[in-house]
Amino acid sequence: MGNKAKNKSFAHAPIISNQNIYQIFASVTFPIDECTYPRYNQIYTENVFHKIKGDMTMPAWLKDAVFYEIYPQTFKDTNNDGIGDIKGIIEKLDYVKELGCNALWINPIYDSPFKDAGYDVRDYKKVAPRYGTMDDVERLFEEAHKRNIHVLLDLVPGHTSEEHEWFTESKKAERNEFSDRYVWTNCWFHGIAGHPYVGGEAERDGCYMLNFFKCQPALNYGFGKITADWQKSPEDPACIATREALKDVMRFWLDKGCDGFRVDMADSLVKDDDENKSNTGKIWKNIREMLDNDYPEAAIISEWSNPQQALKNGFHADFYLDHQGNGYNTLLRDNETPGGDHSFLKKDGEGDIMRFLLDYLPKYDDTKDDGYISFITCNHDTPRARFTLSPEELKIAWALFLTLPGVPFIYYGDEIGMRYLNGLPTKEGGYTRTGSRSPMQWDSTQNYGFSNAEKESLYIPQDESEDAPTVEKQKDDPDSLLNTTKALIALRHQYLDLQADGSFEVIYAEKEQFPFVYRRGNLLIAINPSDKKASCALTPEAFTRKDENKQSAAHGVFSIGSHSLSGNSLIMEAQSFVVFELS
Ligand code: GLC
Ligand code: CA
Repeated sequence: MGNKAKNKSFAHAPIISNQNIYQIFASVTFPIDECTYPRYNQIYTENVFHKIKGDMTMPAWLKDAVFYEIYPQTFKDTNNDGIGDIKGIIEKLDYVKELGCNALWINPIYDSPFKDAGYDVRDYKKVAPRYGTMDDVERLFEEAHKRNIHVLLDLVPGHTSEEHEWFTESKKAERNEFSDRYVWTNCWFHGIAGHPYVGGEAERDGCYMLNFFKCQPALNYGFGKITADWQKSPEDPACIATREALKDVMRFWLDKGCDGFRVDMADSLVKDDDENKSNTGKIWKNIREMLDNDYPEAAIISEWSNPQQALKNGFHADFYLDHQGNGYNTLLRDNETPGGDHSFLKKDGEGDIMRFLLDYLPKYDDTKDDGYISFITCNHDTPRARFTLSPEELKIAWALFLTLPGVPFIYYGDEIGMRYLNGLPTKEGGYTRTGSRSPMQWDSTQNYGFSNAEKESLYIPQDESEDAPTVEKQKDDPDSLLNTTKALIALRHQYLDLQADGSFEVIYAEKEQFPFVYRRGNLLIAINPSDKKASCALTPEAFTRKDENKQSAAHGVFSIGSHSLSGNSLIMEAQSFVVFELS
C-alpha cells in the first residue's frame, strides 16, 4: 500500500462503504456577428452548421473543437475572497483564445452546500453566489461567443444535494409531487441490496439510495431489473417526470446561451440496468431527440468511458477516462501496477503502445460513425500527469493527444505543466483529488496572480516550489510547454485531417517497440517518447496519399526533438515527435 494506494486513480473510488457506490468504469469555426450569435434556435441554419456523421446530426463546431476545462473555484478570483469566480473566467477568455482553445467545459457553478465541490446541486437554476450572478453567467456566454468559444456547463443528472428542495419534499411523510423523485424503499427497516442507502433521516417510512457521497441522494429513473415492489419501471410516470425535469433544466441553460453539457456519471441513471445499459441509453436518446429538434448546435459529452454504449445512445462524445489498466491509463498513468511505471509516454518506462491500441482500436472502430472519443490531459478527478512526467515528457504526451481523432480536452494549468500537489488536506470532498485542483498559476505577483486574498484564505494552497510553472515564465520562451501546446493546437486547427473526423490508421506499432507511427488522412505522424533512439522501416503505402496511387514526398510540418527520414527508413531520436505532410 503506502504510496501505491495514494497514487491510485480515484475517479469513482469507493466512498461510503467498502462497496463501490457506482461501478462507473462504468467513468468550423464560423464567423459570428457579435450581435446575433447567442442562441442556436435563433440562428441555426442547417447547411451552415450541420454535418451528418453516420446517420446522426452533429454540431459542426465539434469537429475542430479543442476544449479547455475550467475548475471555477481555482481559475481566477476577482473579488479577493480566495475563490475563483465567473468574472475571473471572463477576464481570462483572451488567454484561452490565444492558447487556441475554442470551447470550455466549466465544472458546476450552481447553488450548492459544496460537500462535493458543487456536484451536490441544491438548485439547478441558481448560480452559486460565490461564483457571481446569473448576469455574470449570461455575460460569460456572450463574451465567449464573441471570441468563437463555445461553453459547456456541467450537468449532474444522477443525484442532487440532500438540500435540494425536491429532496426536502421527497422526505415528507405525506405524499406529494416529489415523493417518487428519488429512489426510496417502502420501509424504514429495509435497505437496498447491493447499493448504498441511508435510513433514519426522514419522516417518511423508507430508506433512500445514494448515488455517490452521503450528501447525494439518487434521482429516480427506475430499475432495469425489478426485484422489489418499491422499485419502479423506467416507464413509470414518476421516472418519466424525473427525465422531464432534467430536460427542463437543460432547456433553462440552453435558452440562456450555453452550448451544451458535460454530463456527470451519465451511465448512472437507471439502477440495476442490463449490461448494455439500454434503459439508461433510452433516456439519453430521448434527450438527444430534444437537442436534435430544438437545439441542434448543442453538444452533450458523457462521463461514461464506454463509447460503444455512450455514443450509440445519444452522446456526441465520450471521455476516455483514467481507469487502472485501460488503454488511456497505459499511456501516462501506469504507475499503479506492480513492477514500476511502464507508461508508454514515460521516457524510461519501456512501455508498450500495443496495450493502448488493443483497448482503443476496437472502441474507435465501433464508434467512429457515431460520435467522438475524448482524450483528456487530465481532469478534476485525476492526478495531474506532471505527477510522474517531466515537462519534456508532457510535450510529447500533449502532441499525441492533440493529433488523435475525437475531441481533446486540456485541463487548466496542464498547458504549463502544473503539479499534482500530493498530500494536501481534503477540500470540499476532494480527498486525493484536491492535489489536482490547486489555483491556476498566472504570474509572479501575489498567489501567482490567482487572487489578492491572503495566502491562508485561498480555496486550496498553491505549488510552493521554486520552479513552480507560470504562464508568465513560459510565454516568451518558444520552447516552453505552453508554446509547444499552442503550436500543436494551431496545427490541429490548420489541418482538417487532424481534427475530430479525420481518419486514423496505424502504420507501425510493435509490442514493446518504439516508435509508434500513424496516419491521419494525408499526414504521417511518428512519436518516440522513449529516452533511446528508435527506428523503423515504413512500407510504400505509408507514403501514399489517400487520393493518389503513387508514393508522395513527406515534408515535416511540425516536430519536437530530432528525426531523419531517408527513403523508407525513419529514425527518431530520443523523445521526439514529427508530423509529415504527404504531397
Ligand atoms: C463525477 C465528477 C466528480 C464527482 C462525482 C459525483 O465523477 O467528475 O467530481 O465527485 O461525479 O457527482
Ligand atoms: Ca472570488
